[in-house]
Amino acid sequence: MTSKELRKKYLEFFASKRHAVIPSAPLVPANDPTVLFTTAGMHPLVPYLIGEKHPAGRRLASVQKCIRTGDIDEVGDDTHLTFFEMLGNWSLGDYFKEDAIPWSFEFLTSKEWLGLPLERLAFSCFAGDADAPRDETSFALWLSRGVKKERIAFLGKEDNWWGPAGETGPCGPDTEMFYWIDEASPAPQNFQDTHTDPRWVEIWNDVFMEYNKTADGSFEPLAQKNVDTGMGLERTLAALGGKRSVYEADTLARVVEALRGHVHIPPAASSQGGDGRDRKLRIMADHIRAAFFIIADGVEPSNKDRGYVLRRILRRSMVYARQFGMKQDWYLSAYQAVDTIMAEAYPEISGNRERIEGAIHDEAQKFGKTLEKGLKEFEKLKEVDGKIAFDLYQTYGFPWELTKDLAEQKGQAIDKGQFEAEFKKHQDLSRTSSAGQFKGGLADHSEKTVRLHTATHLMNKALRQVLGEHVWQKGSHINPERTRFDFTHPEKMTPEQIQNVEALVNGWIGRDLAVKKEIMPLQEARKLNAIGAFGEKYGQTVSVYTVHDPKTNEIISREFCGGPHVEHAGSIGKFKIIKEEAIAAGVRRIKAIVE
Ligand code: ALA
Repeated sequence: MTSKELRKKYLEFFASKRHAVIPSAPLVPANDPTVLFTTAGMHPLVPYLIGEKHPAGRRLASVQKCIRTGDIDEVGDDTHLTFFEMLGNWSLGDYFKEDAIPWSFEFLTSKEWLGLPLERLAFSCFAGDADAPRDETSFALWLSRGVKKERIAFLGKEDNWWGPAGETGPCGPDTEMFYWIDEASPAPQNFQDTHTDPRWVEIWNDVFMEYNKTADGSFEPLAQKNVDTGMGLERTLAALGGKRSVYEADTLARVVEALRGHVHIPPAASSQGGDGRDRKLRIMADHIRAAFFIIADGVEPSNKDRGYVLRRILRRSMVYARQFGMKQDWYLSAYQAVDTIMAEAYPEISGNRERIEGAIHDEAQKFGKTLEKGLKEFEKLKEVDGKIAFDLYQTYGFPWELTKDLAEQKGQAIDKGQFEAEFKKHQDLSRTSSAGQFKGGLADHSEKTVRLHTATHLMNKALRQVLGEHVWQKGSHINPERTRFDFTHPEKMTPEQIQNVEALVNGWIGRDLAVKKEIMPLQEARKLNAIGAFGEKYGQTVSVYTVHDPKTNEIISREFCGGPHVEHAGSIGKFKIIKEEAIAAGVRRIKAIVE
């Protein structure tokens, strides 16, 4: 089966179960920096999993592009990727286990759909602990479908619990579906005893999201019981094609072959085979494809956060290309392959061709300047440890993976913890991941955060009024302490302009304007001139928040947004801008508080 056919079948199946199909959200989460990238189909849906009403209804399905870097060291084996597509279906307080499990079973095994043989499938359920009970319901539901009880394992939280995507938010026990990928030997009967065998590959996960993990680490019941599922597109394609490796799915095989065109490396029979060079080709295919998608969604290589993830994967691929003696523009053939096989599903790849190729070219130039020197320096080293790995990063821009690879070639292992400790010491943590990055976000509905959400809409409007209509929101992040808002404007704001913005916002707050939420077709929202944050796609219907004066009908602000917001502006408190600064050419950042 091709990737195109599988995406289509999945969405068709859930449409037949009355699910609305929603488009993939961007890889850079809109309004939610609790994680650097969208890591699962559920991520853009967090506000709706905790109670907001989704404009498309309570049953949704999508194919979501995702980036995960947690297992980056495993990439290149049979099952791990940094960029992958997740097929998912959701119940937002609608159906629960009794429907989700029979549907998963039907889609996997019915001849009309995937037709996977039951004798090669196994299942796991949550074993229960102090936070949630053993999942006997899911167990009984699998049995009722004809699954043998030996093929169902009960496992603990480390295996059968999913979420939250950041530090807090919706989560719950899950039931996972595994496929035995070794065609040469029959699948073992007892799954409990064999579930760690790498030939059992998890292809789908049904999460029963009925808990919210709070900041103090406890799990409180959610107001609504949700279902959140995720099926790996490439893993499922491999299973359907009788292949062991995700790199044999059409979306990746083409990229690997395009790279093989530059170098004589015979395909290894499996990821275990070959002399390691084949695995490097797979890593390059994964990393460069991920880089295309990350750049297409607006990220550029840098030394911070998303930009640093991009830099790492690009530089690692560049070093492999150099080791293989590939031409400088080796990545163009990979681009062609990705564009050919994925353009229809992801037009942003063709649409951003110049930017993608330009960003990679520039990064190659930058890295090229220090790479040779760094490699020479590396050759002189007798022993490499985490501290030296960090020095190589600082002086020559060697990302961790690169130094690790080079050290492995010398037969040495380096301690990642030591590298990371050095890295942390040298980063201004208050501005990056471990501080603001993981607090707040879409799952945070604390009262202060909600007040700041509405204040941010008013500030957006005030900025447009004071500075002009060229002001567009570029990003925002809200936590209980402050709102951070990035917008387009070419120069520093004057003290008067800042005062004017504060005065406008506080004036609107003083009038106790009403805040109204409406769900409407996208077209209608456009006609009403609602402004939306950086191209987030919600499908055909959208929710729009309007701040208005019910007495005069004057409309102050109207934005597409997932919410939540206060009902009356008067409850926001006093609004104050505490910082205004440049973050990039033509982009300013404001930090503001409410008291
Ligand atoms: N959110 C779940 C996962 O990523 C479905 O596995």
